[in-house]
Amino acid sequence: MEVEELISNSKVLRNWPSFIIGLGLIWILKNVFYKWSRGPQRYTLENREEEEEDLEDLEDELQPALEEKPHVPFVPGQNLNPNGAERFYELMGGRRSIRSFKSHPKPDLSIIEDCIRAAGTAPSGAHTEPWTYCVIEKPEVKQSIREIVEQEELINYSQRMHKQWVTDLRPLQTNHIKEYLTDAPYLILIFKQIYGFSEDGRRKRHYYNEISTSISAGILLGALQAAGLSSLVTTPLNCGPALRSLLNRPINEKLLILLPVGYPKDGCTVPDLRRKSLSEILVTF
Ligand SMILES: Cc1cc2nc3c(=O)[nH]c(=O)nc-3n(C[C@H](O)[C@H](O)[C@H](O)COP(=O)(O)O)c2cc1C
Repeated sequence: MEVEELISNSKVLRNWPSFIIGLGLIWILKNVFYKWSRGPQRYTLENREEEEEDLEDLEDELQPALEEKPHVPFVPGQNLNPNGAERFYELMGGRRSIRSFKSHPKPDLSIIEDCIRAAGTAPSGAHTEPWTYCVIEKPEVKQSIREIVEQEELINYSQRMHKQWVTDLRPLQTNHIKEYLTDAPYLILIFKQIYGFSEDGRRKRHYYNEISTSISAGILLGALQAAGLSSLVTTPLNCGPALRSLLNRPINEKLLILLPVGYPKDGCTVPDLRRKSLSEILVTF
């Protein structure tokens, strides 16, 4: 009875079909007007606007991501070592994430460059190579990065991360203090480019940019290991925009990984983790 009374007394509830149709019309008109008012978009890296990622607009900009190229004969790699994979497994089996780094000795920048060059050989969606590697060695920039990360991590640990997450991290003994950000001789900030630009300044799609950049980062980890360097993959929550603006990176780049790189401090320890065996990760048919 009460419900019927409420409906008969309320104009909105009595006329609900017209009300919903009205709301739908407003939504459609708003979208049509928004698209019309923006017109065709042109972007340059220099003259970029801080705006939301809006890849739907790219539907209007049909163009090949990749220039037409002749196909040439494939020359297979020269590594014919039958034990290559076993040796690679041994190399990678020794990789561990370390959280305390020596400031000295500092590896030559050329070694870091070689590792990033290797990372740049990664496959990528439609060969868009959607990654940017920023290498930081200046102490004052590392200090600014540390301040940004520690400030956010304090809030992450105390408020943003739910209890289960904090509990899961306990065995790693991590907290919001990140000495490695100033101790490690290099910080490599890996950005995924969520879209790119053609020569005439149009935006172009970067398909699977996160997967492509992650594969590239994986090759970087392998190359660092081959060079005898240690690292730590970190994904500091909520720090991306502040770090992007600190490094003056464009709006199409989003921070994926922050990687301190160097040599472990004397006496550095790591959690005694066990890795899954082959039979736990492999299914054959
Ligand atoms: C995507 C990803 C994000 C990670 N984020 C962090 C992080 O924010 N802080 C941290 O101390 N370790 C981080 N790690 C490191 C993991 O804790 C570490 O890889 C894991 O405990 C296994 O140890 P291992 O790398 O020594 O094999 C991350 C690793 C990955 C792959």
